[in-house]
Amino acid sequence: MEIVEKISEVREITAEMRRKGLKIALVPTMGYLHQGHLALVKQAKQEGTFVVMSIFVNPIQFGPNEDFSRYPRDLEHDAQLAREAGVDLIFHPAVEEMYPQKNRTTVQVSELGNALCGLSRPGHFNGVTTVVSKLFHIVQPDRAYFGQKDYQQYLIVRQMVRDLNFPIEVIPVPIVREADGLALSSRNVFLTPEQRQEAVVLSQSLIEAETLIRQGERSVARIEDKIREKITTQSSGIIDYVEVRSAENLEKSATINEPVLIALAVKFGTTRLIDNYVVEV
Ligand code: PAF
Repeated sequence: MEIVEKISEVREITAEMRRKGLKIALVPTMGYLHQGHLALVKQAKQEGTFVVMSIFVNPIQFGPNEDFSRYPRDLEHDAQLAREAGVDLIFHPAVEEMYPQKNRTTVQVSELGNALCGLSRPGHFNGVTTVVSKLFHIVQPDRAYFGQKDYQQYLIVRQMVRDLNFPIEVIPVPIVREADGLALSSRNVFLTPEQRQEAVVLSQSLIEAETLIRQGERSVARIEDKIREKITTQSSGIIDYVEVRSAENLEKSATINEPVLIALAVKFGTTRLIDNYVVEV
């Protein structure tokens, strides 16, 4: 496995692989890898592709008061995990390589970003779609893999690919959870032991909501209230949002009559966690 920092090197290597007839897979990450990222690699490997993993903490998707500078980074450990998982090439550019001069072009997907994380993190998804389209142009993958923990991100990238005719298949990969249900996230390292214990309430409240829907509850307001009540009574978490929306286009309705996304974002101290469940009805 090679680690390269220059766009020209990625282009050379991927062109060579394409000449050899291999399909190229891209697993875009911000590093500090965990089993959730490795599940993306595993799926890419099963499909027999040359797997490129990008590791780049993208400054333009962080707001001024967000955790860009303290976002965890550990390239050596990432490289070890990536190698063991079968990644073929790591692209680890410096900020100056990706943004050598002032960026004047932004890729913006309308509507899908005007809800959930898009409301509490203004500009975040424009930063994501801009860097992902740059990565798509640099790596020119046949397939790109995105974790469903960032479900809204997955929908937005899928829409961008459709709208801008990228010849790329966007593949969603299910959330990987700890044994007690907490969704894996690079930010979990910031939780204190008490917050870590309390954070299990997130997946538990989602499972309860899913059960209620399966038992026939169709009121979006009642489901959201149940989740809010559980989180506020059983933890110190401060709710950013709890929402039930269409799993296809994030539209909101009062009753559930199509597959829905139950999504939440909750702050434990300074650490903001997100989680979700998709429920087919
Ligand atoms: O999901 C992430 O880690 C990031 O948003 C991504 C897709 C790598 C873009 O920076």
